Amino acid sequence: MGILQGKRILVTGVLTNASIAFSVAKLAQEEGATVVLTGYGRLSLVERIAKRLPAPPPVIELDVQNTEHLETLADRVGEHVDGLDGVVHAIGFAPQTALGGNFLNTAWEDVSTALHVSTYSYKSLAVACLPLMKEGGAIVGLDFDATKAWPVYDWMGVAKAGLESCNRYLARDLGRHNIRVNLVAAGPLRTMAAKSIPGFQEFEEAWPGKAPLGWDLSDTEPAAKACVALLSDWFPATTGDIVHVDGGVHAVGS
Ligand SMILES: NC(=O)c1ccc[n+]([C@@H]2O[C@H](COP(=O)([O-])OP(=O)(O)OC[C@H]3O[C@@H](n4cnc5c(N)ncnc54)[C@H](O)[C@@H]3O)[C@@H](O)[C@H]2O)c1
Repeated sequence: MGILQGKRILVTGVLTNASIAFSVAKLAQEEGATVVLTGYGRLSLVERIAKRLPAPPPVIELDVQNTEHLETLADRVGEHVDGLDGVVHAIGFAPQTALGGNFLNTAWEDVSTALHVSTYSYKSLAVACLPLMKEGGAIVGLDFDATKAWPVYDWMGVAKAGLESCNRYLARDLGRHNIRVNLVAAGPLRTMAAKSIPGFQEFEEAWPGKAPLGWDLSDTEPAAKACVALLSDWFPATTGDIVHVDGGVHAVGS
């Protein structure tokens, strides 16, 4: 029996089969979960990728900047499952002007888009799913260590710092619903989101050498395993926390 046997999990953020969310959905199914996906933008592409999962799941449209999508999410997910035991937030976006070393010149409109999609949406998604989580459960988000100012990550780094704080406030407010809220801080992975960061190769070159355990830039499975573990019943008393899946880089000086 898998560690997610009988659990109903909503996974956001599948775009390609390199997406961290794709790996989470695959492992969750292998561990016994029923998975529902949300997709953004190119839904036909997400549906095509979903067919590569062990059991092709339904795909529901969700743009986290669209209020109507959020307000109707519970009803639309409820057409496929009678409740949710887990939700995965694997969503991030920042306009090009907010990345790549342009920190001092980025306009507020672009910063606000980054914060809306990458930070505020963690709260929006949690609240939208709450009506389906009557028996409690787990919410897991994807983070990039925000305790440092990194090269080129710029306003996405600020958005992730906000995400880490949001994680703690959600944990505070959702504990009474028996919902645990945790982040997985992954090392750099070659996904669409990462490739859109100008200068991302700076991370790619440095990370594997710095990591005590080494680091494979194209292996999303370690991060996905941590997500699945946090969705399971094996972290029953952990909330507001961040699990680092980065080969150990966060723990050592450079
Ligand atoms: N790739 C990395 O190096 C890395 C490292 C640590 C954390 N993360 C985080 O992991 C998460 C998943 O990213 P990924 O690396 O798998 O890349 P990805 O490009 O595969 O996934 C990003 C997802 O965000 C979705 N998205 C963007 N705007 C949206 C919107 N308005 N509404 C709904 N969805 C929207 C995209 O459709 C896509 O599915 C992100 O939060 C990212 O910041 C990535």
